[in-house]
Amino acid sequence: MKVAVTGGAGFIGSHIVDQCLAAGYDVFVIDSLATGKRENLNHKAVFYEVDITSSDIQTIFEKEKPDFLIHEAAQASVPGSLKDAVGDATTNVVGTVNLLEASRLTGVRKVVYASSAAVYGNPEYTGIDELHHKQPLSPYGVSKYVPEFYLYVYQHLYGLKYTAFRYANVYGERQDPNGEGGVVSIFVDRVNAGQELSVFGDGEQTRDFIYVEDVARANLMALTAGDNQIFNISTNRKTSVNELIELLRPYAKQPLTVHYEKPREGDILHSYLDNTKAKKGLGWEPHYSLAQGLEKTMGYYQKKS
Ligand SMILES: NC(=O)c1ccc[n+]([C@@H]2O[C@H](COP(=O)([O-])OP(=O)(O)OC[C@H]3O[C@@H](n4cnc5c(N)ncnc54)[C@H](O)[C@@H]3O)[C@@H](O)[C@H]2O)c1
Repeated sequence: MKVAVTGGAGFIGSHIVDQCLAAGYDVFVIDSLATGKRENLNHKAVFYEVDITSSDIQTIFEKEKPDFLIHEAAQASVPGSLKDAVGDATTNVVGTVNLLEASRLTGVRKVVYASSAAVYGNPEYTGIDELHHKQPLSPYGVSKYVPEFYLYVYQHLYGLKYTAFRYANVYGERQDPNGEGGVVSIFVDRVNAGQELSVFGDGEQTRDFIYVEDVARANLMALTAGDNQIFNISTNRKTSVNELIELLRPYAKQPLTVHYEKPREGDILHSYLDNTKAKKGLGWEPHYSLAQGLEKTMGYYQKKS
């Protein structure tokens, strides 16, 4: 069985590639290296340095004939989508449609798509379940949401099966702290460099931090389960930024200092995603607590430095 993984040189995609190969799948990667890195590529996978909006996608799919597509490639930054809304929509919407066309024309059995908690916008309640209202608050939130409709349409018109995942805040090894990595990768980087941590607000804001290996495992499970459904991939738990800091404190080589700044306007205070549907419909649940995921992440960076 062959799996095409887009974004396989990126953070989450590279973990999916590793797990697919370990499970015995043949894998090829499509990545433009826009934010991905060659060093993240697993050398056992064939690599195409190609943009997902390119007409080359059709040619590659005709040659490789994948059974499955796991689609992680994206313009994955909220600020990036504000700076270049056209570029964001081109990659995330047009790129996805281009892949769906190639998939249906070459007989792909199923597409697994990385959507985002950003589709929900401001929480009406927590834990946010899949039926919660969708009111994205950024071009990125819209461009991650629109492909969910295309997936439905391609299933309806052509019988192309899909699973879409709305990820919470993913963290772990290979997340780029210089990109839009999010608070965990920035803090991990600063703790390792012996630098002060900056927090917007009082640190009591909460998020749902899910470890990347749990996210990758959900993708593998979706190759054989959860057809034509959308699932939150999350821990169902809220963790405050202050709690995160306390979990990281033992790893600091010198006393950790934290600087509290004014809250950022528009930041959501509390958010976590309900994962009941994924537990029931996919048989998936996270295996890693935040403490365990952080231990693996810190171990990786401390070995690297
Ligand atoms: N990291 C998170 O917390 C999170 C949360 C919700 C959803 N997601 C989604 O998960 C997916 C993976 O995100 P990530 O955090 O690993 O980001 P990432 O930036 O590390 O990975 C994205 C990959 O896509 C590639 N790419 C970008 N534009 C491309 C294009 N036009 N053609 C081909 N390749 C292109 C990049 O080079 C990169 O390797 C994305 O779809 C993102 O929207 C991530």
